[in-house]
Amino acid sequence: MALLGAISLGLLALSPVASAQVASDIEKASNETLFWGPYRPNLYFGVRPRVPRSLMGGLMWTRVEDYQSVQHNFRHTCEQHELDGYGWDEYDVRTGGRQTIHDPANGIDITTEFIKFPGGHNGGSWGARIRGTPREDASPDLKTTVIWYNTLEGLGSLEVVNEDAEETGAEGDVVLKGQTVELGDFEVRVTEGQGAHPRHTHPSYDEKPLDRTLVHSTQLPTEALWQTKAVLFTHMKSEIDQAVGKYEENNPPPPPQIYTIKHAPGSGNLHMIQKVFEGPFEFDILFSSGSAPKKITSEDLTEQIKSVTASFSSRFIEIFKPQPPFLKERYQEFSKSLFSNLIGGIGYFFGDSRVDRSYDPAYEEDNEGFWEDAAEARSRNTAQFEGPSELFTSIPSRPFFPRGFLWDEGFHLLPVIDWDIDLTLDIIKSWFKLMDEDGWIAREQILGAEARSKVPAEFQVQYPHYANPPTLFMVITTFLDKLDAVSSDSSSEKLLKEKSYYMQLSNREAALQYLRTLYPLLKRHYFWFRKTQAGDIKSYDREAFSTKEGYRWRGRTPQHILTSGLDDYPRAQPPHPGELHVDLISWMGMMTKAIRRIAIYLDEADDAAEFAKYEEAILHNIDDLHWSKKDNMYCDATIDDYEEHKLVCHKGYISLYPFLTGLMGPDSPHLAAVLDLMADPEELWSPYGLRSLSKSDEFYHTGEDYWRGPIWINMNYLALSQLLDIAQSSGPHQARAKQLYRELRKNIVNTVYESWKETGFAWEQYNPETVKGLLPPLFTSG
Ligand SMILES: *[C@@H]1O[C@H](CO)[C@@H](O)[C@H](O)[C@H]1NC(C)=O
Repeated sequence: MALLGAISLGLLALSPVASAQVASDIEKASNETLFWGPYRPNLYFGVRPRVPRSLMGGLMWTRVEDYQSVQHNFRHTCEQHELDGYGWDEYDVRTGGRQTIHDPANGIDITTEFIKFPGGHNGGSWGARIRGTPREDASPDLKTTVIWYNTLEGLGSLEVVNEDAEETGAEGDVVLKGQTVELGDFEVRVTEGQGAHPRHTHPSYDEKPLDRTLVHSTQLPTEALWQTKAVLFTHMKSEIDQAVGKYEENNPPPPPQIYTIKHAPGSGNLHMIQKVFEGPFEFDILFSSGSAPKKITSEDLTEQIKSVTASFSSRFIEIFKPQPPFLKERYQEFSKSLFSNLIGGIGYFFGDSRVDRSYDPAYEEDNEGFWEDAAEARSRNTAQFEGPSELFTSIPSRPFFPRGFLWDEGFHLLPVIDWDIDLTLDIIKSWFKLMDEDGWIAREQILGAEARSKVPAEFQVQYPHYANPPTLFMVITTFLDKLDAVSSDSSSEKLLKEKSYYMQLSNREAALQYLRTLYPLLKRHYFWFRKTQAGDIKSYDREAFSTKEGYRWRGRTPQHILTSGLDDYPRAQPPHPGELHVDLISWMGMMTKAIRRIAIYLDEADDAAEFAKYEEAILHNIDDLHWSKKDNMYCDATIDDYEEHKLVCHKGYISLYPFLTGLMGPDSPHLAAVLDLMADPEELWSPYGLRSLSKSDEFYHTGEDYWRGPIWINMNYLALSQLLDIAQSSGPHQARAKQLYRELRKNIVNTVYESWKETGFAWEQYNPETVKGLLPPLFTSG
């Protein structure tokens, strides 16, 4: 607390050394509440701290009614189609929350509550409550096996210390004691909990009575530890083989008995703790840090759950202030769930990754037919392992994409920054720390063997000439907006009192220090974009304000520009080294505006002047190189058979890009045309949101139909935020923008809400005709 007192004095001007100290104190304080979390979002429930090679935990369960279903119904990693919705109903990264899992095939609903206990150091303590409730249609004596496990990577120790560890199973709580450098001394207590246990008369019962807790401790190579389910299956198989040898073939032990682990508690780096229940059950996992004033109990957990739930709900309303027409209770439940899954999906990733740094000349993509040469160069497979590196990030989807994606992250963080600025800034920093010396950040972060296990080999390799939209700059811009608002608006005072979410907003010195530390990385990244994604204006005598500001995505094939994010959107055919992409120059414009604003904040006058020049040239060139008078819209450009500049126009998101990225002010002469295109039901407008490609385009709903018609929520969000901007500034299109904003907002919220109600999922895109959510789902709901 003394630390926070010192921080609030930060309004006085401090020397650079002192302000670096304040920034570091703030980071330390913020770190304490971020230390532990369900940071293994690829699992239905998995806990780890934000440090490499440490203590991890995870939950597995299955029904044990028969011999057939166990193999398929053992839950561990999130898989699509196996459950009927799951996810965080309420979650706050700093305090905790509740997840609900609906598992019809196992006849059970599981809730996992995860709650943090501040105090001490090393991130304090935490508790998790696991509750199973048989579903209405389940048999009244439903039998469920549940396994909690802990693994320990790296140096340290972990052992079961139960004194009463009977030969046939533990009675009462199971207690593990451990120690590592980062965690200090700690204890993990898995409580006896509540619930009935299966009883039967088979003679095997006496060897392992099912009212005990079975504990199996073992030492495995580190690489095996994340594959806990496979380890468990191998172990169970040997137990089953033994049992089968012992009893007559026509008299095997019943399923709840035969699918049990051998009770062998001790020390090791893997401890599996198994409970077998009949009907409903509940038990706790209590992690107590040795540095905390006292060990936590189940009673403490019950109290803390109540207080965390109450404060989450009131804070949610305060921060996100529901607006008409979405005031009804049901929208609150919906928005709480979506937001909670966004931040409940935040993970900590650590490991090596595959990168191809052969810098093959084919990767310049500057000759005709370049995509064939590039494909051949890639097929030589010269990728190496790099790292290990770490990343703290949210993820697009727990079952499909449980890893970091660069351009997705900017969109994820836009709502998060309203809730928790310090968390947002921490995630941004984590991403920029991944940058290499040239300024490149791999767009997909597949760190470590566990992450790689979800990705086909041909998609694992990252190439240091591939870019991805620089969406994190939008989030930094939002941070600057908030900083500006603080200095001019005293109503934010109340929020600023919530120190643990807004320390870097309430303390200007710390904010500046953060930006100062980040700035060199932002610059390096910016200049990397300018250099590696440059387009060719000069060789083709193109007429433009500037001969430099034109851009081309590298990594394209005839069918795809995956690096643009808009994978299969129709582009120039065939690909040409003289192509210029209107979405990329728009991103460059957004990025230039953002970095110029940061430079001004940091009194970097020379830099700011340089960026201002680029910005002016980009704005001119967007019109000079990409505006089609004939089609009255923005278009990609390529080179025709006579070596002349030619526009390639497909009405859709690409045509809106200068608008979507905030480069068209309320007085822009082209704004009317952009609004017309959006508002026309024969083009982009649908009752459910804006289509990615116009209904009138020849490629509408063709091929993979990924960005060829479906309504994408992230792009609709950008459209909404620009419409709102125009609606709030006076200009010739103010009234129109207001009306479009109102309707589009209503349509988009309804689309996502109705589909969520029906499917239990929120999707990244929706079919504009049927409004069905299309793969893959973003966040799941309980
Ligand atoms: C905060 O935590 C991060 C991630 O574990 C770590 O890299 C950083 O050094 C910590 N900062 C401070 C000031 O302790």
